[in-house]
Amino acid sequence: MTGKMNPVSVDIIGDIALVTIANPPVNALSQTVRAGLLDTIENIDKNRSILAAVLICDGRTFIAGADITEFDKPSIEPHLPDLIDRLECSTKPWVAAIHGNALGGGLEVALGCHYRIADFSSKLGFPEVKLGLIPGAGGTVRLPRIVDSVNAVSLVAGGKPIKAQLAAEWGLVDLLVEDNLKRDALNFAQQIASLPLPEPASKRPLINKLTADDWEAVLSPVSNKAHGQIAPVRAAETIRNAVEKPADEAFAAERNLFSELKNSDQSRALRYLFFAEKSASKISGSSSVDFMPVELVGVIGGGTMGTGIVTALLLSNHSVIMIERDETALEKGKATVLSYLQNSLKRGLINAAKHARLITSLTGSIKYKALANADLVIEAVYEDMDMKLDVFSKLDTVMKPDAILATNTSYLDVKRIAASTKIPARVVGLHFFSPAHIMKLLEIIRTDSVTAEVLSSCFLFAKRLGKIAIPAGVCEGFIGNRIMSAYRRECEYMLEDGALPQEIDDAMVAFGFPMGIFAMQDLAGLDIAWAMRKRQAATRNSNTRYVAIADRLCEMGRFGRKTGSGWYRYDNTTDTVVEKIILQESALKGIQRKSISAEEIIERILNTMRNEGSKILAEKIANRSEDIDVVMVNGYGFPRWRGGPMFTGKNLIP
Ligand code: 3HC
Ligand code: NAI
Repeated sequence: MTGKMNPVSVDIIGDIALVTIANPPVNALSQTVRAGLLDTIENIDKNRSILAAVLICDGRTFIAGADITEFDKPSIEPHLPDLIDRLECSTKPWVAAIHGNALGGGLEVALGCHYRIADFSSKLGFPEVKLGLIPGAGGTVRLPRIVDSVNAVSLVAGGKPIKAQLAAEWGLVDLLVEDNLKRDALNFAQQIASLPLPEPASKRPLINKLTADDWEAVLSPVSNKAHGQIAPVRAAETIRNAVEKPADEAFAAERNLFSELKNSDQSRALRYLFFAEKSASKISGSSSVDFMPVELVGVIGGGTMGTGIVTALLLSNHSVIMIERDETALEKGKATVLSYLQNSLKRGLINAAKHARLITSLTGSIKYKALANADLVIEAVYEDMDMKLDVFSKLDTVMKPDAILATNTSYLDVKRIAASTKIPARVVGLHFFSPAHIMKLLEIIRTDSVTAEVLSSCFLFAKRLGKIAIPAGVCEGFIGNRIMSAYRRECEYMLEDGALPQEIDDAMVAFGFPMGIFAMQDLAGLDIAWAMRKRQAATRNSNTRYVAIADRLCEMGRFGRKTGSGWYRYDNTTDTVVEKIILQESALKGIQRKSISAEEIIERILNTMRNEGSKILAEKIANRSEDIDVVMVNGYGFPRWRGGPMFTGKNLIP
């Protein structure tokens, strides 16, 4: 039964068959695994001396799902739904022994087994919706026959895996084990071997039935949260179908819908991003380069970014020193970090012991010499070149010579900062996004002088932080902010050409952005960008089109939500001021306003993003167009299910 190329092997231990899948890295259900498993089921059924089987996986995880790399190729037998049908009809009881993750097709295989045991640290879930899919191998039919229908909808439509303990409470796991999964699974199999064979999951009665009103209450939040994405809504409806229709019909409907979604633009876009994100850091790091250990990190500035960065560092088990300019600011910064950690504790993201340990890993000082032993320092003071140069000159004198010096600047020239130091080779940009302990994106800004060792160490550091790290060259705004500046400019041109802020924002939201550009500016505050525009006024090219509408708003003290008004007014009164200013500015330039449709608004935004993206590629600021998409999706609210601006260009999604 075992062969060199067969990823499925069998050991007979007494009268139990221990079936092991070894298909690194995540034991995906590739064709060879499916074929090996089918063969094994047949053989075990025929072998009279075997009373039960345990299905376990080698390596870091149980089966993490169907093999996504096969989705773009013609599917080869045995098909997963048929394999699982065969598994649940086996004449011997099967026990799935889960560690790591049982995801998607992996959980469907586990549902095809008669019992499931799991170690405490494992997770179970149906992440298919994150790939624009629904479970396609009977998961939606078997799940509501094992767990409550409401829980089934949340697992399948939400896409978020649950911890083994909760899975056990729901009835999805029959036994939780502490430390020796294989031993406990074999003992469990021995115990159940003599019991009558349980009904296959698909033949069991439903756990509960819901009324039409219950369904309305379950389904409507799913569609409200979908923001244009199809799969979560279809996933929830498929569970309802599986509960209300006979199992055979439900299996067929699920299979048809899975194929339809697999070929949809949304699923193609989401699969493209899955692989773009996985490969981003790989291309950037090099295995032949040494890494510098990063354990103790200094953060300069305890404002919006500094406190988020410190929290992210603590949560990833680094020791941190926060530096502020005076004791009051330091105490304020530390208090903010403690409140973030408290929140993580409250939300169950960390336990009490870890919370207590993380607090002791944070120290603070107003003296730069406290950084003498730090492996890395991240500067997050105000966006002002002179101030940053002053900070780096101090760092030069206190840091150990092999420490990495990083700036979190949004726009400023990292080359100039590096050149001002004694060892430019160790200076890099680490551009976090706000809030830094929540946002997954990190742009790693390389100068010409930085060493490969420093860069690789930063990518490794990003991995430990759980960030998606994208390399970028030096230019104003790097990848993301440069594209955002360009499309914001285009949106302001559209205001002068005939659109109103609400029309642009509505078009963006309808396209799938969580909010429009003007609502976002109101949230962030208009004053900082205004200050920057005033600084740049003297050097601005007078031949370049300049839109002064935002300046007019700022001159009136309209800085956004914090002042009660900006592009919009936030006191529920009607406001014609902005429209009047816009009409005046169009008239001043002699522009004949004409209305701009939602389609044209989106087309102009996407074209601008793609044009700027192409320039960024041509200038080698970004390595790959995939990286640009990963940045725009993870940092700027570009709808994930559309793949990113460069992807939409290639695939011409309107
Ligand atoms: N198919 C093919 N390759 C996969 C894969 C899958 N389902 N899941 C992960 N991989 C690959 C990754 O691309 C990566 O490849 P690389 O080393 O060449 O870059 C490698 O496995 C390791 O992945 P990660 O770096 O992500 O490893 P982690 O340990 O950080 O995470 C994981 C592991 C949580 C399993 C994560 O990889 C993951 O979430 N994978 C996707 C799981 C998923 O979506 N499953 C459902 C698939 S659809 C399905 O099952 C349909 C069914 O209903 C019919
Ligand atoms: P902020 O104004 O919230 O915080 C700056 C902090 O630096 C203040 O607490 C201030 O007391 C402290 N500080 C000033 N001079 C100092 C010095 N010499 N030594 C020690 N501390 C000093 O600013 P914010 O928003 O945190 O921005 C910081 C940097 O991060 C800027 O370069 C900004 O462009 C960048 N950034 C900001 C993002 C955002 O969304 N706010 C996103 C990404 C980057």
